[in-house]
Amino acid sequence: MNQTDSKKIVIAIDGHSSCGKSTVAKQLAKQLGYLYLDSGAMYRAVTLFALRNQLAKNGTVDEQGLIDRLEEIKIEFHWNEASRQNETYLNGENVEEEIRQLPVANHVSPVATIKEVRQAMVKQQQELGKNKGIVMDGRDIGTVVFPQAELKIFMTASPEVRAQRRYDELTAKGQQVQLDEILKNVEDRDRIDSGRKESPLMRADDALILDNSYLNREEQLKWAVERAKERIENC
Ligand code: DC
Repeated sequence: MNQTDSKKIVIAIDGHSSCGKSTVAKQLAKQLGYLYLDSGAMYRAVTLFALRNQLAKNGTVDEQGLIDRLEEIKIEFHWNEASRQNETYLNGENVEEEIRQLPVANHVSPVATIKEVRQAMVKQQQELGKNKGIVMDGRDIGTVVFPQAELKIFMTASPEVRAQRRYDELTAKGQQVQLDEILKNVEDRDRIDSGRKESPLMRADDALILDNSYLNREEQLKWAVERAKERIENC
């Protein structure tokens, strides 16, 4: 191991839905020359497998059916030079776009509550981070996946601020949406993520809080890069 390798750290970023975790995580990884891994994409890929194999529909999931077929699911990330990002592959097929669509979004929460699914994903995530030099975002990265991570960040913003951002994004795309419905959806998802039995979303005791309600992207990134450099210096 050379000098630079020995200074590589693991950075875990957890937090609520729609608070900009992946934007900060991606930019931070880029600045540090680290790998970025979106753990939510893995739960989304499993959900897509379930949908394609009639193991999920109308908001419900055949849990045992999915558990029985977990071994058939191979998830990988490959760098795409054109989009300059890692893209998600399910059994050899690029599914990056499809996992962001509504059918997956509508079924991923129940899939992510299944213990056996989580165990399989956590194992793969730990394998991907074993050489350090990685920024991973999700809900349980600092608590379950990398409890020894050198830097843990817990991101949040008020539900009202997150709902307003989502509303602005959707209306900019020409969609007709109601702010109060989006706020309800944000609050519902917080409740599901924080209230589930398996690995609920919670702040690790040693995580630093980044409340970005009143911070722009540059300010958040600057804060995160400073914290990361401090930790790298000190390890
Ligand atoms: O971050 P995201 O919206 O892409 O996550 C998709 C779903 O997966 C969401 O319901 C939360 C869940 N998830 C999880 O339970 N644990 C993680 N480490 C990452 C995501």
